[in-house]
Amino acid sequence: MKGIVFTEFLDLVEDKFGLEMVDKIINESDLESNGAYTAVGTYSFSEMLQLLQHLSKNTGISIDDLLLVYAEHFFAVLADSYPGLIEKYNDPIEMLASIENHIHIEVRKIYPDAELPTFEILERTDNSLIMIYKSSRAMHYFGLGLMNKTFEHFNSSATIDLEKIKEDGTEVKFTIHKN
Ligand code: HEM
Repeated sequence: MKGIVFTEFLDLVEDKFGLEMVDKIINESDLESNGAYTAVGTYSFSEMLQLLQHLSKNTGISIDDLLLVYAEHFFAVLADSYPGLIEKYNDPIEMLASIENHIHIEVRKIYPDAELPTFEILERTDNSLIMIYKSSRAMHYFGLGLMNKTFEHFNSSATIDLEKIKEDGTEVKFTIHKN
């Protein structure tokens, strides 16, 4: 997992819960990096999982909710860092339908070692999109947060349903209807 995901995560934790919480979750985790991340580095996903587990335990907020809020923050980071990728689109459904064959392809050119999910489109209309998320990281709530912000970015909103195809969240069906 790319370092930018860790640095932005710890910044948000500091912002919302204070520096003591950042130190606490780093100390409670068994981290090969010792909790020192650079934006361009690459680190094991298990480090993110441990940080999330300890933050969840210490705050009483579920990992799904933490990932949702974190993704909403991360969207702004992506929009600031890669404006050219988003400017190409003028519609949220069009943008979401292009993650797999454009956006994440460009991401892979920037970070050849990025660990990205796949999105398989099952059905698409002007106002709706049904796709299957697949990733061993089961970050479907992170995807949901990015989708919410994609609609907000275009001054739009949507009703988004998640249906787990695999109980562990490694395969999830997203049904998206523009409001
Ligand atoms: C992960 C880039 C839009 C879904 C990532 C990562 C980057 C990235 C850098 C981390 C990869 C790693 O840690 O190795 C971008 C950029 C975008 C964009 C630049 C737009 C400009 C989206 C959107 C979605 C999405 C709109 C909507 C669902 C995800 C998910 C992950 C991810 C779910 C987590 C990894 C996983 O589930 O396996 N993306 N992304 N991305 N992205 Fe995107």
